[in-house]
Amino acid sequence: MSKDGFGLLLSSGKRTKAWELLGEKIEDYISSVDSLKVPQNVSLEEIQKVLSAIDFCEPVEVDEAIKWTHTLLKKHLLQIASRDYYGVFNPQASSMSLIADAFVAAHNPQLASSASAMLCIEMENHLIQYFAEKFGMNSSSAKGSFTSGATEANFMALLCALSKRIPGYRNQGLRGIEKWPTIYCSEETHGSIKRACRISGLGTDILRSIPVQSNLQMDCEQLEKQILADQEKGYHPLMVVANLGSTSSATIDPLEKIAQISQKYDLWFHVDAAWGGAALLLEEYSYLRRGISFADSLSFDPHKWLSIAMGCGMFFVKEGRSLRRAFSIESTAYMPDETQDNEQSEPYRDTLQWSRRFSGLKLFLTLLVHGEKGYSEVLRHQIKIGKYLKEQLEQNSWEVLNTTPWPVACFVDKKSGCDPKELLHLVNKTGDTWITNTELMWQKRGVLRAGISNFRTEESNIDKLIQALNKAREILTKSKSD
Ligand SMILES: Cc1ncc(COP(=O)(O)O)c(C=O)c1O
Repeated sequence: MSKDGFGLLLSSGKRTKAWELLGEKIEDYISSVDSLKVPQNVSLEEIQKVLSAIDFCEPVEVDEAIKWTHTLLKKHLLQIASRDYYGVFNPQASSMSLIADAFVAAHNPQLASSASAMLCIEMENHLIQYFAEKFGMNSSSAKGSFTSGATEANFMALLCALSKRIPGYRNQGLRGIEKWPTIYCSEETHGSIKRACRISGLGTDILRSIPVQSNLQMDCEQLEKQILADQEKGYHPLMVVANLGSTSSATIDPLEKIAQISQKYDLWFHVDAAWGGAALLLEEYSYLRRGISFADSLSFDPHKWLSIAMGCGMFFVKEGRSLRRAFSIESTAYMPDETQDNEQSEPYRDTLQWSRRFSGLKLFLTLLVHGEKGYSEVLRHQIKIGKYLKEQLEQNSWEVLNTTPWPVACFVDKKSGCDPKELLHLVNKTGDTWITNTELMWQKRGVLRAGISNFRTEESNIDKLIQALNKAREILTKSKSD
């Protein structure tokens, strides 16, 4: 056998050249992304045509493969790394994320058990303790794990709640349920909660979508009424989910009120902080810790507002035992002996995943290099640009309908009442910028949405966006009057 494993490892010379070329191409992408058109500039047919020519029978040279990939990705993706991207919370990745991901792929550590990757597991645990403290959770009893994202973390929350509150659930599953559970969230909650209900086998009928008030927060009176009505009908109110930064409007639900209600009726209290959790790094939002301190569990995505490359999610529980209760499957002959009775956290026993990638390194290295201070500057910058966006919208006769302190604006045309979808189409067609639309659940209103998800977005980018919006409104108004 050849030293490079039939070529799979490539020769040392080829690898060195490949790293150089890869570095060059990534640098080219990062430094030119703002000059690219933001929307995806390709049709499905074009993509399928390119791929249909590839049958994997004719090997290509390494440099050719790198150049081919670079050209395709640069040309045909929605450029979320652009300063002019204002879509949902997909960030440009910190450069330390890229460096970390390269290390992780090279060493490919297996984070299922401490017997194979104690160092990596402890680095992740260090981050979990650090963020648990930031969130105001008791860091000596709280535990957690890294996840692929908040969808997985929200599902884990439901599984922890079921295992804790329904004695037969662990072994008998749904057959062990005497009183059917009900789950509560606001109408603004991310669809991953509904999915968790569906894939858990409980079904989506058990989900109670609580109406929001005009400020888009969950209406706690309605929540309590619904819990009482369900109790009356013989259901078992099991879990309530509060938003700490909803997807559409970055709304923060009244955490303390929801916590009180969950205590009163003995519900599992879960906080979905997928995006907003990042703000807890800032002292000015430390007041949110009080509400979170009552939470039984919390989801957080560093791959959103902390600008870590996807996927990097985290799941926290107030009591570490909840994880083992929900996920452990007793001893497994093929896992190392020392991990079987270990009271310490062992990822394969305490998480949904088994084989696990070292996704914490991206966050660890970004924090190590930029520190809490660097992150605080970035977050405050984005909040400041978000304020500027809202001011400019108001000054240009756009009405902002959400009240979050964080950098997301949901707005409509106040001047001529143009249709948000038509406006969206015209704005995104320019290719110079990218926004989305959504529906706010208060009065079920269709709106435009722009969020500052890029840490490099400046006031000049906002000016460009406002110009594009004004121009789109002008075109639509004119076409209606013609
Ligand atoms: C509030 C909220 N929760 C959950 C999710 C799902 O997260 P992920 O895409 O990381 O699974 C999102 C995604 O946008 C979100 O905004």
